[in-house]
Amino acid sequence: MKRSTEANDPYVARDLAHVWHPCTQMKDHEQLPMVPIRRGSGVWLEDFAGNRYLDAISSWWVNLFGHANRRINAAITRQLESLEHVILAGFTHKPVIALSEALTKLAPGLTRCFYADNGSSAVEVALKMSFHAWRNAGHTAKRRFITLTNSYHGETLGALAVGDVELYKSTYKPLLMDVITVPSPDCYERETGESWAEHSRRKFAHMEAALAEHAHEVAAVIVEPLVQCAGNMRMYDPVYLRLLRDACNRHRVHLIADEIAVGFGRTGTMFACEQAGIQPDFLCLSKGLTGGYLPLSVVLTTEAIYAAFYDEYVKLNAFLHSHSYTGNPLACAAALASLAIFREDEIIERNRALAAHMGARARELESHPHVAEVRQTGMIVAVELVRNRTTREPYDWRERRGLRIYKHGLERGVLLRPIGNVVYFMPPYVITPEEIDLMVEVAREGIEIATCD
Ligand SMILES: Cc1ncc(COP(=O)(O)O)c(C=O)c1O
Repeated sequence: MKRSTEANDPYVARDLAHVWHPCTQMKDHEQLPMVPIRRGSGVWLEDFAGNRYLDAISSWWVNLFGHANRRINAAITRQLESLEHVILAGFTHKPVIALSEALTKLAPGLTRCFYADNGSSAVEVALKMSFHAWRNAGHTAKRRFITLTNSYHGETLGALAVGDVELYKSTYKPLLMDVITVPSPDCYERETGESWAEHSRRKFAHMEAALAEHAHEVAAVIVEPLVQCAGNMRMYDPVYLRLLRDACNRHRVHLIADEIAVGFGRTGTMFACEQAGIQPDFLCLSKGLTGGYLPLSVVLTTEAIYAAFYDEYVKLNAFLHSHSYTGNPLACAAALASLAIFREDEIIERNRALAAHMGARARELESHPHVAEVRQTGMIVAVELVRNRTTREPYDWRERRGLRIYKHGLERGVLLRPIGNVVYFMPPYVITPEEIDLMVEVAREGIEIATCD
């Protein structure tokens, strides 16, 4: 039965008159429904007509403990009664102090926290800080960055430059700094019979060669540890990160771990780098940092980097970077509440059963004639659709098969948002096994519909 959406119409009309939506060809909305949401609860979103949507993508990978979470709501409300915001230069406040203490405990060896207010800005901070730290130490030639093919680090010009998703990048190339791009360890491309670890190790040869050739002019290597999320949820083995840490040390190049999407339990551990047993020089966090409530990001770094800037003012070695809402108290209070839930409810342990169930259900799609691979890292599961399963010939992007799945999901009450031909699940951690079953079933129906011609 088709769902009624009439009560949404007045909001849709007002929206389309003035709101320019992110990452959207607005003309699509001549056909595609705009969904005005009036409330959320747990994994569910509800529109003005009373239709519910299971948020299988955690509202762009931010939400961890459900919408309108009682504990996070209470923490923000409490904070609101005493202080909504204060300048973080020259002034400080309790939530930012407590959050910095908590984060540095979770990431041993990283002792300093520099705040911004979204993921792209955190990446800009890490890039600038790396370059500037070398410069303060007299290494002025180190001004380039090494990145992986298929990587994504955000949309501001610096972050876009170190990314490699053509769809977002190619138009703006004339504006972007020149980077060194080496092949990703993406395990979708492994040879038959090759393990993830073997493939990732083999691919590392490219990185080693790039470092050997360019280390003298390179400030840092930037990677998304274990999962290239915006790059079609492609995954690789932790061994790559171990090799990379070692090579960065040998070649005297910083390592920036962009865990903006994968941090806070998504890969099965609090941070993905833990699975490789490594410590980056810069750890970028955002998205799940506040449980998906408020915009906040942070770059954690080492005492050595901090020391490279600590000097007499007149030497002009300070890191003079700021954003108005840096370290906002409400956002820090939400982050503290989210970390408390991790501790008190033993989320990392509890997620193991959820991840196992999600993986098992999703792997039932493996036998589908248009599924090339079902892959998983912790709480992230992805299904790669292809035109031809034997040759792995992809569907032409212009066919927009994923969009058919998105539309079917909306009709059936599940918010799926395939990236190209990849359907993925990255739900909030409060999802139940029954809700996982529903999410995968609706994806299966969607795949059926999207691949029937
Ligand atoms: C790995 C990674 N880095 C950076 C960003 C950019 O974050 P934001 O959208 O908050 O600017 C994203 C966003 O998806 C991301 O996935």
